Amino acid sequence: MALDSFGRKIHYLRISLTDHCNLRCVYCMPEDMVFRPRAEMMQDEEVLFLARLFAELGFDKIRLTGGEPTVRAHLVDIVRGITTTPGIRSVSLTTNGMLLSKLADPLAAAGLGRVNVSIDTLNPAKFKRMTRGGDMETVWEGILAAEAAGLTPVKLNAVVVRGYNEEDVVDLANLTREHHWQMRFIEMMPFGGSSDLQTKQMVSSQEIQDRIEQSLGSLTPVNGGELDGEARLYRIPGAQGDIGFISTVSAPFCADCSRARLTPEGILRMCLLRDYEIDLLTPLRAGASLEELRKLVLEAVWNKPWGHGLANGEIAINRAMNEIGG
Ligand code: 5AD
Ligand code: SF4
Repeated sequence: MALDSFGRKIHYLRISLTDHCNLRCVYCMPEDMVFRPRAEMMQDEEVLFLARLFAELGFDKIRLTGGEPTVRAHLVDIVRGITTTPGIRSVSLTTNGMLLSKLADPLAAAGLGRVNVSIDTLNPAKFKRMTRGGDMETVWEGILAAEAAGLTPVKLNAVVVRGYNEEDVVDLANLTREHHWQMRFIEMMPFGGSSDLQTKQMVSSQEIQDRIEQSLGSLTPVNGGELDGEARLYRIPGAQGDIGFISTVSAPFCADCSRARLTPEGILRMCLLRDYEIDLLTPLRAGASLEELRKLVLEAVWNKPWGHGLANGEIAINRAMNEIGG
């Protein structure tokens, strides 16, 4: 198992398969986003090679992200390649859901375990405005298809942005009454690119919870208030599913962080919110040996930054969210 210098076990790799996306969510990227040429990205066999390398170093959990991973060609083959890699115990996917109704069955057949789907509001007009073109009904169909395909438990993500969807959190929370879903509310994080909106229109988990409790009454803590991954979980009394709060900005979970991230260009980034990175693809293409690549990974893991400095106003600037993967 790979350890960092603070003793944290790093065994969870989030692989961003592309920076491209079929939406332009206001909290993620500018409207006129320019994407990288596909040739700069890891090719399918390079993704699988690196997944094997990480698995040999004790990484057992992989999440595929983007950009939007479902716009990547051969996604199903990539998923199959990763789920059949020895040592990998779970593979999941974060998606905007726009292409999920067609992909849910083949992804499940390829061994995918679960999906997280973004849904920031149930109001179609607000959804379109917030995602700059997304269709809520299409995403909804995708969520139902994922559940039917057994990609469960389905987790839903909403980033809450003042002036866009802070009034919609109650409707979203109410979904958990009838569905075995985990509805997670995420504090918006600032990145390079569109950070004006990101810092000024952020809504705290506390405010989101207050809004929900004012309408629906007190929520019951799940797990005795312990974090479940990055989320603090609650339940509406009698509900089927859970409500989660991800308070990256107001209550960082860095002490429990087990993650590393691989960008679409094969760069290993050890903290979402710090610019420390090590390029793996260039040495891989230059013919580095397995031993050399292993060393690079272990060195990056060892040097994983302790945590982010958002509370001190430090914002990582070299990449936007879609270039890192959520
Ligand atoms: N802050 C927090 N989460 C974000 N995401 C995108 N941009 C941000 C941001 N600024 C999340 C979305 C999506 C995932 C890909 O990344 O929730 O589900
Ligand atoms: Fe695309 Fe996801 Fe970013 Fe929205 S949050 S623009 S769906 S990558």
